[in-house]
Amino acid sequence: MIVLGLESSCDEMAAAVLADRTVRSSVVRSQVDLHAAYGGIVPEIASRDHALHVGFVIEEALEKAKVTPSMLDGVAVTSGPGLIGSLLAGVEAAKGLAVAARKPLIGVHHLEGHIASALLENPAPEPPFVALIVSGGHTSIVLVPELGGPYEVIGQTRDDAAGEAFDKTAKSLGLGYPGGVEIDRLSQTGDPTAFGFPDVMPGRDNFAFSFSGLKTAALRLLERETLPLTGQRLADFCASFQDAVVENLLGKALRATRRSQTGRLIIVGGVAANQRLRERALEKAKGHQVQVYLPSRANCTDNAAMIACAGMVRLARGERSPVGLAARAHWPLQDLGRS
Ligand SMILES: Nc1ncnc2c1ncn2[C@@H]1O[C@H](COP(=O)(O)OP(=O)(O)OP(=O)(O)O)[C@@H](O)[C@H]1O
Ligand SMILES: [Mg+2]
Repeated sequence: MIVLGLESSCDEMAAAVLADRTVRSSVVRSQVDLHAAYGGIVPEIASRDHALHVGFVIEEALEKAKVTPSMLDGVAVTSGPGLIGSLLAGVEAAKGLAVAARKPLIGVHHLEGHIASALLENPAPEPPFVALIVSGGHTSIVLVPELGGPYEVIGQTRDDAAGEAFDKTAKSLGLGYPGGVEIDRLSQTGDPTAFGFPDVMPGRDNFAFSFSGLKTAALRLLERETLPLTGQRLADFCASFQDAVVENLLGKALRATRRSQTGRLIIVGGVAANQRLRERALEKAKGHQVQVYLPSRANCTDNAAMIACAGMVRLARGERSPVGLAARAHWPLQDLGRS
């Protein structure tokens, strides 16, 4: 089965061609440079740039894969949740292509796409498994009975997402955007025990997160420092903050996995690219008798191969979206797979 995937829910316009579980091409046009000057994503700029480039990105993905539209078995596109203008650029292009090439169309939930990113690795996790979804807009622990759902949300953030906390704390430190990558880089020479962060939302039965709490704790600690932090002090602060986020995420995700008795945990979404999170996940998993699966770092942040993968699973089951497929800015993951 050959599927073209399209992803444009936020500030990346991406297209990919997947042949069964082999990625034949994966093109990602990032807008980081466009938004960096504003310290965050400007939705109007994002959607206009997507509309300008969607054709080029699709063309490049097809050419790299040496595939023509007539060879496709379907077109998969992120139809939500996300920034509505950004989503529309991908959804409308996917409809045009599907209608013109007379191919099935399938709308994909962005977070189901992140979950599917783990299936692109070898070995791929066998469902059921638990997914820790950690990205710029979401932080949830989800029980995945099979790809397609219904998904059971075991716990989620009460306020900010983990990626958002990385980005906002990086901004307070005067670092560039996106901040998660910068904190990851600077932490490599830092001491994670230099600054003490509180354990937020403690309790063995508590699977909820509060990253706004950690972000505020970071601000309180910075009030006692001479700003801007530089050199070793900056590296130490980054490493301490990162460690607090990582230990909080992993403690809860591993406990939830043990309780689920699935024995398998996948960690997906942009923050899953974090080096410390990856290392600690593998270390800590041993003690919990849990097998951890991590997508390659390129497949953690937004990409279209994961959307093609999720779409392929649904297309193979005979699912189709109507040509009037609507983009949805708000779309709870719990709604998937329920009739
Ligand atoms: N190495 C890293 N360490 C920590 N955070 C990272 C790293 N790389 C990326 N991130 C964070 O990941 C987030 C981007 O992830 P992703 O592309 O999945 O987000 P999104 O699509 O905007 O959000 P969502 O998937 O919730 O809609 C940003 O907050 C970024 O700072
Ligand atoms: Mg994402």
